[in-house]
Amino acid sequence: MNTSSNPAATGLHTLWWNDGDAFRSRLFDAISLLLPCGEHFVVTAVNDWLNTNSHSSCTPQLQYEVQRLVREEQTHSRAHRLYNERMATHAPAQRLEQRIESAMQQMAVWTLPTRIAFAAAFEQLTVLLAEQVLRPHNVWLGQNDTQQTRLWQWHCQEEIEHRYVVQDVADAMKIGKRRCALIFLVAACYLFTDITFALASLLWTDIRAQRVGMVRVSLQAVSFTIRAIPSLLRMAGAGLRHVVMIKS
Ligand SMILES: [Fe+2]
Ligand SMILES: [Fe+2]
Repeated sequence: MNTSSNPAATGLHTLWWNDGDAFRSRLFDAISLLLPCGEHFVVTAVNDWLNTNSHSSCTPQLQYEVQRLVREEQTHSRAHRLYNERMATHAPAQRLEQRIESAMQQMAVWTLPTRIAFAAAFEQLTVLLAEQVLRPHNVWLGQNDTQQTRLWQWHCQEEIEHRYVVQDVADAMKIGKRRCALIFLVAACYLFTDITFALASLLWTDIRAQRVGMVRVSLQAVSFTIRAIPSLLRMAGAGLRHVVMIKS
């Protein structure tokens, strides 16, 4: 018997938690693999800034916002570690996380202004997606009320709420518009490459384990990409506006 035809027997109803769509479920799973390391990078960068004298001239309000962001990101990381641990029971989550971790370790030795500019870019890129995910009837998150859906909605909401904090730190450090804009573009390429690699690895594992067929997941990918075009254009527009509005 082909187990992929029996969702109840294989647990596919929870595996494809995003409205039964394997591609969209794995897309968010791939993003989740990046988050604990990415959020650790952001938290370390802003903590290093707090621990230097360079923040003495900034407002107590910004220091308070940074401390709140650190607490929120640490909570997000814990939630996504649990999410990823559950994923590891049927996916190469650990191997993919280690790959991301070693890339992040190379970034950890960069200068503080560069790390803050990357942290600000990662935060802003996260918000670009979060805004689309929280739109009513969007193409990203399904309508099913699942544990994963609730986690993503909560996380996206908090990312939007603290969206300006790390960019405000970058502005307080006077990192510069050109440098921040260039790093924003590099960070977007990093994220796109890492998410694509993780997504392809997860889906390839699913296809080999016969949890989903190649044709079915390819059709889901094409369907999602076409329906996501307006959303991707909105993200590109918002990203461009962010670059233009970075202070010099
Ligand atoms: Fe977060
Ligand atoms: Fe954040």
